[in-house]
Amino acid sequence: MIRITEPGRLRLAVLASGRGSNFTAICQAIDEGRLDAEIVVVISDKKEAPVLEKARNRNIDHYHIALQDYPDKAAYEQEIIKKLQAYDIQLVVLAGYMRLVGKELLETYKWKIINIHPALLPAFPGLDAQQQAVDYGVRFSGCTVHFVDDGVDSGPIILQRVVEVLPDDTADTLSERILQQEHQVYAEALQLFAEGKVYLKQRKVVIK
Ligand code: GAR
Repeated sequence: MIRITEPGRLRLAVLASGRGSNFTAICQAIDEGRLDAEIVVVISDKKEAPVLEKARNRNIDHYHIALQDYPDKAAYEQEIIKKLQAYDIQLVVLAGYMRLVGKELLETYKWKIINIHPALLPAFPGLDAQQQAVDYGVRFSGCTVHFVDDGVDSGPIILQRVVEVLPDDTADTLSERILQQEHQVYAEALQLFAEGKVYLKQRKVVIK
């Protein structure tokens, strides 16, 4: 069994591709004393991602690193790693980072990369998870905080929250309610790391 982080204030990196509402929720949890952490750097693969502006407004170092500026994904991830290594971080937090994480990042930050996915994994991995849930007709969906491994949303599960799917739900209305849960559960999961309570036993997460 391995302990993922020792107790103490977490230094976090956030990787995000879009609007950054999970980034904001994590910042608020820190501001309100619910999460003993600091986001020290934000990296986005999208130049216009609102998350970069949000990081700027909070005086958090932020960078745009674009895949298309590098010969291949390995070189792109090497650049991300170079940036991250300057910050002495404990965890890499994916918050709407809409790319598969490659070998370079996975090997450098083994079991240190976590993600939030808007479904109850292992149901509905990949893109458009909320639409998948509506189309399938499940009565319940939700969100999952999990470790990132080399599969698609397949890593060990840390925490989950259930959200009821209502008869008239569209992907948009369901996404909105799931997002409210995401904002709470991500900060709660991170706080478990800050308390040194998260262990990995083969593919199972143990919270002590
Ligand atoms: C969130 O719903 C998150 O779960 C999802 O993207 C959204 C990002 O929102 N992530 C994935 O689907 C990853 N596979 P945000 O930019 O407002 O945090």
